[in-house]
Amino acid sequence: MAKIIGGVATTHVPSIGQAIAENKQKDPYWQPFFRGFDFVHDWLARERPDAAVVFYNDHGLNFFLDKLPTFAVGAAEAYRNEDEGWGIPVSRSIAGDPALSWHLINALVADEFDITMCQDMLIDHAVTIPMALMWPGQNWQGIKIVPISINTVQHPLPSMARCFKLGRSIGRAIETYEQDLRVMIVGTGGLSHQLDGKRAGFINKEFDQLCLDKITNEPEILTKYSVHELVAEAGAQGVEFLNWMAMRGALPGRVSQVHRNYHIPISNTAAATIVLENHPEPRLKAA
Ligand code: DHB
Ligand code: FE
Repeated sequence: MAKIIGGVATTHVPSIGQAIAENKQKDPYWQPFFRGFDFVHDWLARERPDAAVVFYNDHGLNFFLDKLPTFAVGAAEAYRNEDEGWGIPVSRSIAGDPALSWHLINALVADEFDITMCQDMLIDHAVTIPMALMWPGQNWQGIKIVPISINTVQHPLPSMARCFKLGRSIGRAIETYEQDLRVMIVGTGGLSHQLDGKRAGFINKEFDQLCLDKITNEPEILTKYSVHELVAEAGAQGVEFLNWMAMRGALPGRVSQVHRNYHIPISNTAAATIVLENHPEPRLKAA
C-alpha cells in the first residue's frame, strides 16, 4: 500500500529561478533562504519519496481568467513548463503518474469534489521553483508528480476549510492506493505578500508566525479564517497559503514539524519553508 511520508511547503517566488541559474545560492541576499533547503535535501535523501502530490496555484500559464477551475488535477504522463515572461530559464519537464492521478480523481469525485481533470497541463513557476529547490540541478528523475491547482487568482476563491478538506480527501485516497509508493505532499506559495495595488509590498510577520505555528497541530484554528480575512492578514497573493492548508489536510497521521525557515524578504515575499513528518497512528488489530 502507498504510504504518506510527510509534507514540504515552500515559497515559489520566480526570481529564485534566476538566482539558481546564476548560482547565487551563497550570495548574502540569497543565502538565508537557500540554506533552509539543506535540511530538506537530507530529509529527501533519507525518506526517498517515489511520488509527490503538489498543491499549487497556476498564475495564468495553463489557466487564464476566461476559464479558471477552482480545483484542477493533472493526469498527464509528463508536465511541461513554458516561458511565463519572468526572465527565468524554462524548466525541464517533470514525469507524471497517470495511474495515481486517476485514483485520486476517482476518490475526489466520489467525495463530492467537482474537480477539473487535465490530461494535458502546463506547470508554471509555482511547481517548477519548489521542485528545483528540492532537487538541485533539476535532478528529479526518480520522482513522479500529481499537480493539483487551486484557484488563488480570481475571486471567489475556495475557503481555507474547503482546501483543508480537499487535502483530507487526497490523504485518505493515497492510503487506499495499492502500489507500494512512498508519497510526499507539497504545498507552494506564500507566505504573506501583495504584488500590486495600494498595499504592494505588504508583509505580516505576526500572521505568518501564527500560520507556521498552528499549521502543524492546530490547523482547525486556521480553517476559521475567511478568504477576506486571509487577504487582509496575508495580502492579496498571501492567499497562496490555501495550498499549504491542502498539503496539511493530506497528512492523516500524527504530524510533527521537523524543520522551519522564515526569512523576509525574498523579492516581495515573506519566504518560508517547512517540513512536516506524518507518523501513521498505530491501528488497533481486529480482535
Ligand atoms: C512573487 C511571488 C509570487 O508568489 C509569485 O507568484 C510571483 C512573484 C514575488 O514576490 O516576486
Ligand atoms: Fe505566486
